[in-house]
Amino acid sequence: MRSFAVFLLFISSNFLLPAATIDTITPSQPLADGNTLVSAGGLFELGFFTETPSRSFLGIWFHNIPVRQIVWVANRLSPVTGPNKTLSLTSDGNLVISSAGGTEAVWASNTSGLKTPSLKLLDSGNLVLTDGGVNSAVWQSFDDPSDAFLPGMELGLDLTAKLDKRLTAWSAADDPTPGVFAYGVRRTESSELVIWNESSIEYRTGPWAGVSWTGIPQMNSDLHFIFHFTVEPDKIYYTYEAVNKSVMTVITLTPAGILQRLVWLGGGWRQYWRLPEDKCDEYGTCGAFGICNVYYAEGVCKCLRGFEPKTAVDWGLRDYSGGCKRKTALACERGRAGNDDGFVKVSGVKPPDTEKVRVAGEVGVEECGGLCLRNCSCAAYVVVGGNCLWYADEVVDMKEFAAGTNGGVDVYLRLAAADLDSPDNGSSKKKTIVAIVIPLVLASILFSCFTLYLLWRRRRLGVTDDYVKESRGKEMELPLFDMTEIENATNSFSNENKLGEGGFGPVYKGHLRDGQEIAVKRLSRYSVQGLGEFMNEVMLIAKLQHRNLVRLLGCCIQKEERLLVYEYMPNKSLDSFIFDKANSFQLCWRKRFDIILGIARGLLYLHQDSRLKIVHRDLKLSNVLVDKDLNPKISDFGMARIVKGDQLQESTEKVVGTYGYMSPEYAMHGIFSVKSDVFSFGVIVLEILTGKKNRVFDPNEPLVSLVGHAWKLWSEERSLELVDQAMECGDSESEILRCMQVGLLCVQEGSDDRPTMASVVLMLGSEGMTLPQPKKPGFYPRGGSKAREFSTSDKTVSTSNEITLTMVQGR
Ligand SMILES: *[C@@H]1O[C@H](CO)[C@@H](O)[C@H](O)[C@H]1NC(C)=O
Ligand SMILES: *[C@@H]1O[C@H](CO)[C@@H](O)[C@H](O)[C@H]1NC(C)=O
Ligand SMILES: *[C@@H]1O[C@H](CO)[C@@H](O)[C@H](O)[C@H]1NC(C)=O
Ligand SMILES: *[C@@H]1O[C@H](CO)[C@@H](O)[C@H](O)[C@H]1NC(C)=O
Ligand SMILES: *[C@@H]1O[C@H](CO)[C@@H](O)[C@H](O)[C@H]1NC(C)=O
Repeated sequence: MRSFAVFLLFISSNFLLPAATIDTITPSQPLADGNTLVSAGGLFELGFFTETPSRSFLGIWFHNIPVRQIVWVANRLSPVTGPNKTLSLTSDGNLVISSAGGTEAVWASNTSGLKTPSLKLLDSGNLVLTDGGVNSAVWQSFDDPSDAFLPGMELGLDLTAKLDKRLTAWSAADDPTPGVFAYGVRRTESSELVIWNESSIEYRTGPWAGVSWTGIPQMNSDLHFIFHFTVEPDKIYYTYEAVNKSVMTVITLTPAGILQRLVWLGGGWRQYWRLPEDKCDEYGTCGAFGICNVYYAEGVCKCLRGFEPKTAVDWGLRDYSGGCKRKTALACERGRAGNDDGFVKVSGVKPPDTEKVRVAGEVGVEECGGLCLRNCSCAAYVVVGGNCLWYADEVVDMKEFAAGTNGGVDVYLRLAAADLDSPDNGSSKKKTIVAIVIPLVLASILFSCFTLYLLWRRRRLGVTDDYVKESRGKEMELPLFDMTEIENATNSFSNENKLGEGGFGPVYKGHLRDGQEIAVKRLSRYSVQGLGEFMNEVMLIAKLQHRNLVRLLGCCIQKEERLLVYEYMPNKSLDSFIFDKANSFQLCWRKRFDIILGIARGLLYLHQDSRLKIVHRDLKLSNVLVDKDLNPKISDFGMARIVKGDQLQESTEKVVGTYGYMSPEYAMHGIFSVKSDVFSFGVIVLEILTGKKNRVFDPNEPLVSLVGHAWKLWSEERSLELVDQAMECGDSESEILRCMQVGLLCVQEGSDDRPTMASVVLMLGSEGMTLPQPKKPGFYPRGGSKAREFSTSDKTVSTSNEITLTMVQGR
């Protein structure tokens, strides 16, 4: 009985098998509406699809996955609008798409003269028309790319057939008609691939260097794909293959002009990389003779050595497109012999635009330089793939890669003797040190994050190698979170989980799988400024561990997402206690004193951290978080800067900070030091004691701040009048007065008069100690001095009603 049932089951399951799929069309067997072709191995499918009502297209997509990723469209310019769509092959080999049962042709391949035509969909995703037993294609879909670049496909120029095979983006996500963006080979003496918007270049890969593009150093460590760029007399083309042939992958050009590699992983398409990746990938961001790096301290662009901004005002406003000009004309331009000029080597960069480049053949670096010196219009040269390329007149679109990405080439820039001798920035040694130290540290952190990211990708793709084991121990021990893990933890960044809007983006609460509560800071997308700040914060906090500093648990860099994962502080920030009538009662005097001491200790730790001093620069109540026991934790290190140990102060043109907490010398002259943090700390102390904001103390007298008022009452010995009524003081008046005195000492006008954090901690802790009398506090007019221009705050708007300002000083 039982065996009979099993037998029945066997029979019926056999009956349930789908009808055999076909992968071929012949003149006698057209493809009717609703039917599809499926390639022999079941990888690709061809059929009609409809994106917008009554507009149908014939296309190819990946078979057997629940998401339809279209890789080719035949009739992009002429959608089928009528019913009964058919794809048929005429007896002489013309492939025709028609509607109304074959009476209205909307698209044809225009092939003819075939004897026994047959059309087949291959497992590569190529649709191939052949004649009889002959294998060579009469027509193939790979010769007419849409927006997708599949392994085995060739992008480029066929000079004999006059074909330019390039990707053309869809005009919108639901509209396959050709949009403005294209990606393909630009033919020059040293061809490269570019993304165009209509006819203007948006992005370039840089010249080919044997196994990868010079502009994409990440390719050097890509173990999953092998790329080929071939230049022949009649053909220039780019193609690639996947190492693991069973990984489903495609490169697409999105309607917004983003080139991305998609890989099918864990039931969804993952973006493996994208280009352009940052502001410096965008063509010509820094103009002629400018160089771009999103980690430069003062903006994304710099002039190359020996050059200065053409229009300093525009550069000040961060419009760099005007580029740079020579400080000293070349000797040959001054009518002198060329041998006065020399070269400076710029290392680790993407070679400039090759549009007007001259290829001087296969010569070495020295000889290439000699060739360059012979022609006065030669401005720079590089040796790429053994070839000497020299640039006439000017160089544009150079990007500096982070040290450690192991990418880029050496560009030799031609300079007059005068500019060769005196290196730039020689006037200010201090500046150079910091300008070098910070990018270097940033670069190494970026590199570790990037390495971890690569490792993560590698694990996901099922490839392991020894590299994984090697680099783990050596680099920074900051865990890298997986995006899906964080998405799960934060309910896909749902609004319910949103805690607030921080400096550079929203902050979300989340639960890790092991139950730990986290706060996730999500950097606003495409925020170039924010990225530098982000890496700054990662770098600083990763190294700092103190009970009064918020703890960073890890970071996440994926696609365009950049996330910081912190320990979660259930009680939010201190300002929501001090300035809130309902909450301020929770903080009695004892608690407030402990909080002040805690902040002082945290700050002392920052200022005394080993050899490097860290200046927070944006210390304020809303940046002090409290845990469930109301222990204070300093957070938000996005603005923090390292000051070298032996260096007392530092100055910047870009003043960041919060009005009301900034010391006068910083707000007015851009000079910051640990003493500017001491000033902010003093303001915090006064605010905690009085429950009043420095900024909005008296709306009727805007120039009289809390600091000024506290000082006035102090000199009249009426300080206790100012103390927050909400705090229950008992008989601690003397303690409160001592705290007030410390606060006033910290906000003194002269930065030298202000105590260090070490003395502050000492003064707060020693009851019997006699404290100095505070001098006049530092003020500054609300609008800043007239010497200083306040630019629009393009930077950031932070929590509650406090604004973090960015000010740029016009020189
Ligand atoms: C579409 O095809 C169906 C079935 O072949 C037929 O009944 C119908 O008349 C056709 N419609 C048109 C508009 O050709
Ligand atoms: C076929 O020829 C027609 C008419 O000349 C033309 O409009 C169409 O673009 C051609 N089709 C292809 C695929 O080239
Ligand atoms: C493409 O370029 C045009 C002209 O420069 C510009 O107006 C347009 O905004 C660009 N399109 C996109 C999507 O960037
Ligand atoms: C290739 O990829 C497939 C699918 O992702 C995976 O199952 C397989 O393990 C991979 N093979 C190798 C050798 O990594
Ligand atoms: C120098 O180079 C320019 C640009 O390539 C070219 O037009 C000019 O003829 C060259 N001059 C000499 C003397 O070779």
